[in-house]
Amino acid sequence: MNFKQMVGIEATKYIQNDMIVGLGTGSTAYYMVEEVGRKIKEEGLKITGVTTSKATEAQASALGIPLRSIDEVSHVDLTIDGADEIDKNFQGIKGGGAALLFEKIVATYSKEVIWIVDQSKMVNTLGAFPLPVEVIPYGSQQIFRILEKRGYQPQFRLKTDGSFLYTDSQNLIIDLAMETIANPEQLAEELTNMVGVVEHGLFLNMVHRVIIGSDSGLVTLENPKFL
Ligand code: A5P
Repeated sequence: MNFKQMVGIEATKYIQNDMIVGLGTGSTAYYMVEEVGRKIKEEGLKITGVTTSKATEAQASALGIPLRSIDEVSHVDLTIDGADEIDKNFQGIKGGGAALLFEKIVATYSKEVIWIVDQSKMVNTLGAFPLPVEVIPYGSQQIFRILEKRGYQPQFRLKTDGSFLYTDSQNLIIDLAMETIANPEQLAEELTNMVGVVEHGLFLNMVHRVIIGSDSGLVTLENPKFL
């Protein structure tokens, strides 16, 4: 069993009957969704899932997980998702899989959020992983120029055939090669204030618990901010 599978399975231990569960996106969340499907089938677990991307929606419905959209539920009890980077203050970057917008919406309306990662995602300072920014196509070249002038080394995310990658909401992603993000809160505010930016991949003050897979086994960290 690999680390992604280990943490994915471990996280499902926090799911209880009748919960409304946010189902994350990515290669780690994939294993969590598989385990939820197995528990429904083999152990009679009863939950409602709220997916964070079309990919997770397709996986979850194929597994027979009952689904509702975020607009059809009053709240989400628990969201389990992957992450691209997590710093020592439990701040994170997400969006490597281009699903940051729905992921952030579902996390925002969740009572509790768990991230599942392998040790390589834990960093001292955010920024080595390119920060995704989701932008409306109209005016996106203007945003790109501003980001370039600010020295953020923007790159439009492309598909393997060289064409623009469009998100589930038909927006574009601009990845910022920041290298080091000294002040995530300040950068988040700066990006949020840009016209045409829909959302960015800085997930700040959102995660309650992080489950990390490493050579020495599983480690679960609780965010002191929420204790
Ligand atoms: C999807 O847009 C992302 O936020 C993923 O949750 C994140 O990139 C982690 O993905 P992996 O588990 O595949 O590394």
